[in-house]
Amino acid sequence: MIDLPPVIGHRGVAARAPENTLGGLARAAEEGLEWVEFDVRLAGDDVPVVLHDRSLARTTGVDRLIDEVRSTDLGAFDAGSWFDTVWSGERVPTLVQALDACIVLGLTPNVEIKADGGGLVTLARRVTGIIRSRWPAGRQRPLVSSFSLMALYHARLAGYRWPLALVMGCRLRRLWSWHAALLKCTSIHVDPSLATPEFISRVHRGGRRIAVYTVNCADEARALMNSGVDSIVSDTPDFHRNSREAER
Ligand code: G3P
Ligand code: MG
Repeated sequence: MIDLPPVIGHRGVAARAPENTLGGLARAAEEGLEWVEFDVRLAGDDVPVVLHDRSLARTTGVDRLIDEVRSTDLGAFDAGSWFDTVWSGERVPTLVQALDACIVLGLTPNVEIKADGGGLVTLARRVTGIIRSRWPAGRQRPLVSSFSLMALYHARLAGYRWPLALVMGCRLRRLWSWHAALLKCTSIHVDPSLATPEFISRVHRGGRRIAVYTVNCADEARALMNSGVDSIVSDTPDFHRNSREAER
């Protein structure tokens, strides 16, 4: 089974730094995180970039879709000021830049493919190709995840053999367990509402780990871990550090 850490920073560490930015990755490392989740989409020139929404409006103030913009134009967009003006130097990074930052910072990435913007086959192929060519041998391998079964299938069709995770929201996907087995998923990532004791043991019986997102309350995180959840994806992972300090 894959070794997931108890806590994964969500979109970097989204409560402490602008989501999905290089500054956010650096902040996650400073917070002591070992893993971070971030989202990837395809820019208009088919370059995978790190962005949650299809629109750039919320995080850069630019009212355009990412697929209408070239990755080389992203240097002009401020992806930090919406969070706090001290982060005004942040940009929407490319996947290559984010992976390189993770390599330097000692972080293992959970790269979530956002497949609702079109170009799904290209995105799955490019993301997995970049990870395979960029990631150093001997390091814990990145985890590629997606809500999109098609994205995961295209990753496997492209010959990607490294860990994959199926993400589900508040509702189980039909035949999720069958797909997870066919895709050789190493973990299942769900909303807390799905993480019942029965579901957790079913995932474990299938030989997989279970991660729950996005949990920002220490009590909820503790309860989930006590019921057998392997990993918590959080914007505010300090609760983990606080609980470790309390144990000492
Ligand atoms: O990968 C887990 C989580 O990030 C999925 O939700 O919308 O924050 O990407 P979202
Ligand atoms: Mg995500």
